[in-house]
Amino acid sequence: MNPRKNLEYKLFTTGWNAYQAVLEHDYLWHSMAATALNQLLADRFGTTIPFSFLDLACGDSATTSAVLQNFSLVNYVGVDSSPTALIEAARNKNGLGLNPKLIEADLLEFLANDQVEFDVIYVGLVAHHFGADNLQHFFDLISKRLKPGGLLIAYETFLLPDETLEEHINRLCLIIRYLWSEMPPVFKRNIIEHATTCDLPVSMAVWNEKTAKSGLTDTQIVMKSPDRLCAMVISSWK
Ligand SMILES: C[S@@+](CC[C@H](N)C(=O)[O-])C[C@H]1O[C@@H](n2cnc3c(N)ncnc32)[C@H](O)[C@@H]1O
Repeated sequence: MNPRKNLEYKLFTTGWNAYQAVLEHDYLWHSMAATALNQLLADRFGTTIPFSFLDLACGDSATTSAVLQNFSLVNYVGVDSSPTALIEAARNKNGLGLNPKLIEADLLEFLANDQVEFDVIYVGLVAHHFGADNLQHFFDLISKRLKPGGLLIAYETFLLPDETLEEHINRLCLIIRYLWSEMPPVFKRNIIEHATTCDLPVSMAVWNEKTAKSGLTDTQIVMKSPDRLCAMVISSWK
């Protein structure tokens, strides 16, 4: 495994406690993301229309499970490369409908090899690791796994319109150092190490250009975090 991959993997396996603390303190605004996701799904499916839901890089599935429990007959598949995350996800299975599947796999390999199509593909805080160069391949694969009219919903970190990657990482590190006040210093260090090595977010303009190139349409922002680190973006497959 290359050093970058190794660090990325480390935070979400042996270092899972640090990410767990982020979730517990809601430092990456998962509660706001959950509210936005709930509203999108309610607008689209109501509470009675069944739909299938692919949760890419599902982590502990806590956010999606809290939302999906409000909908009936959800067919859920969660994919993550971390066995630690999937052990946590198994604890949150109750909200994930009948017979949820949790699959340990690299999400790009899963998308390339699996043939099943979904009504909704949800991506939570993983696509910013791909960088502009690999995003197109990611969206191409996603577009092949969406049913006609299906939705890609992504909750991701983004560069601000006039922000360089270096400025973004500096901003993130300042937020972590000064605003994540309940976080033990060792966890802060682990997350800063991870972010400075692994994070390659793109701007919304680049995201839009690449989704459009893969045939995804109507891309729009449905929620922005108050610190402007994260946003939820939705696109449709024709
Ligand atoms: C920041 S966490 C996000 C988890 C969850 N989606 C959330 O919003 O809390 C990133 C997750 O992506 C997983 N991950 C990273 N790269 C992956 C890949 N190539 N394939 C599958 N999972 C991956 C990690 O194991 C981790 O659980």
